[in-house]
Amino acid sequence: MSENQQAIQHIVSMEDLTTEQVLKLIKRGIEFKQGEKLVYQDQHLVSNLFFEDSTRTHKSFEVAELKLGLDMVDFDAKTSSVNKGETLYDTILTMSALGVEVCVIRHSQEDYYRQLIASPTITASLINGGDGSGQHPSQSLLDLMTIYEEFGHFEGLKIAITGDLNHSRVAKSNMQILKRLGAELFFAGPEEWRSQEFADYGNFVTIDEIIDQVDVMMFLRVQHERHESGTSFSKEDYHAKHGLTQERYERLKEKAILMHPAPVNRDVEIADHLVEAPKSRIVKQMTNGVFVRMAILEAVLAARKAQ
Ligand code: CP
Repeated sequence: MSENQQAIQHIVSMEDLTTEQVLKLIKRGIEFKQGEKLVYQDQHLVSNLFFEDSTRTHKSFEVAELKLGLDMVDFDAKTSSVNKGETLYDTILTMSALGVEVCVIRHSQEDYYRQLIASPTITASLINGGDGSGQHPSQSLLDLMTIYEEFGHFEGLKIAITGDLNHSRVAKSNMQILKRLGAELFFAGPEEWRSQEFADYGNFVTIDEIIDQVDVMMFLRVQHERHESGTSFSKEDYHAKHGLTQERYERLKEKAILMHPAPVNRDVEIADHLVEAPKSRIVKQMTNGVFVRMAILEAVLAARKAQ
């Protein structure tokens, strides 16, 4: 039995996790990556309910579930009774009534999980795969795992998060936990995409002021689908002012890494040829997603067993 095994009832927000729980989840993810085996012998039904599009989160939860020997109950929002007006609450209530133990949910409504957790009839455990512009805890945990593998600590690291801050559940999840873990944070990107909430966690800068000082340069996707009136600049303008160009890449410190939750808008946030450059950890982030999600599923199932 590993000291990093633990029981957590729901994993919906980084704010709800203690620092100890976070560190154990990433260390458990590293154990799985290093070859630790866990295959459940009893049947456990898990359903991945994605009401917003996803490649990485959805498929890496599936891979994690396959590796753990869990049984997946297929759900496709496009062919479900959602199209007859069924609410999210009633969909999850139904899954729970069918015996699904864990629901991994992505939904556009911020904080959707609070109402579900409060329900006395919904017995399924919840894992938040992203709620609107709210939280994305499994992405945050895989980002932390990637940083921890690189540096072995968080205290004192200089980390810049740049891009579409207001719309980014990745930025919000990461800024909260990274500050708690002792990192020094900077925020860059267009001024119209910043709100005051970020000022509580770090300093606003331009990419050119900070790029040669940071240990981690974290780029965010421009979320065109959440910009109701479109963006006020071309992709070429954005790239020139805020993106990772070859010139900026060359200013990164020798040991600095660049990260992006992906999907990357190539030649917008990051020049096409730099997405897989030596300092990029973007592919590693995707790989780590499988292992940290195994740790998340294990913790949630352990909490059910303990009940
Ligand atoms: N990073 C991330 O959440 O990617 P997907 O939207 O493809 O899941």
